[in-house]
Amino acid sequence: MPKMTPVVRTISEIRSLVAEWKKEGLRVGLVPTMGALHHGHLSLVNAITEHSDRIIVSIFVNPTQFGAHEDLDKYPRQEASDREKLAATPASIVFAPSVEEMYPSGHTTRVTLDGLSEILEGANRIGHFDGVATIVSKLFMQCQPDVAIFGEKDYQQLAVIRQFTRDLDIPVQILGGKLIRESDGLAASSRNAYLSEKERRIAGTFNVILKELVSKAEAGEDLRVLEGEASDALLKAGFTAVDYVSIVHKDTLHEIHEITEEARVVSVARLGDIRLLDNMAIKAP
Ligand code: PAF
Repeated sequence: MPKMTPVVRTISEIRSLVAEWKKEGLRVGLVPTMGALHHGHLSLVNAITEHSDRIIVSIFVNPTQFGAHEDLDKYPRQEASDREKLAATPASIVFAPSVEEMYPSGHTTRVTLDGLSEILEGANRIGHFDGVATIVSKLFMQCQPDVAIFGEKDYQQLAVIRQFTRDLDIPVQILGGKLIRESDGLAASSRNAYLSEKERRIAGTFNVILKELVSKAEAGEDLRVLEGEASDALLKAGFTAVDYVSIVHKDTLHEIHEITEEARVVSVARLGDIRLLDNMAIKAP
């Protein structure tokens, strides 16, 4: 039998475990995930280790953050192999509740943010960030972590989580985990598994095109022209659509016209139904 990190499936079990840890004065870290773990997730577990004595990894494919025509049903679910991968990390426990445990019938409350959750990904996936904010708030309430970590690959998600945590005075320290890339530079993502061989080759050009944009932006070229050029280059490389290539303020994610401090390029390009996300820092020229 392969070694697996132990799992609990109910809110009452995770609460009593955390209560015992807290009685011993231990610091609790949380790594929220939707499973299908890859080396990006495992790097988050390793990164939170120096901030916590015990680590909870939650695995829950959250239905409320998927739109009606999105990939909820086909999203990869592989809990046994996830728990095997986690056994080689410092993770203490997996929290893998059922949909009924998380959203019992009669559940009607949602956490909604103005502004930040309505632009970029929010404009392309209506209601997505309400679903994320609702589930992450619930996980914070259930697991009572001292610290939680989210990958910078989902850069806007991290900003949204920082915002509602601050707005609701939730006493959880939020850490951002470095974006992890495959050997050709493609951002690691559970959705990369959907790509055909040909699509995977095209996907490998995404980071190259964004890097080119970054170096031209750092040389002081016009930001709107660079966004247009990158978008054209993505389509030429074989992407079927580009949802956006935007150079934005690193915290507010609002479009900027001039880089006076560090900025960010955030982008989503599509290969058929598959949306790939990437982002990179841009230094002031
Ligand atoms: O980034 C994810 O995997 C999910 O959006 C999260 C934060 C686990 C909430 O379901």
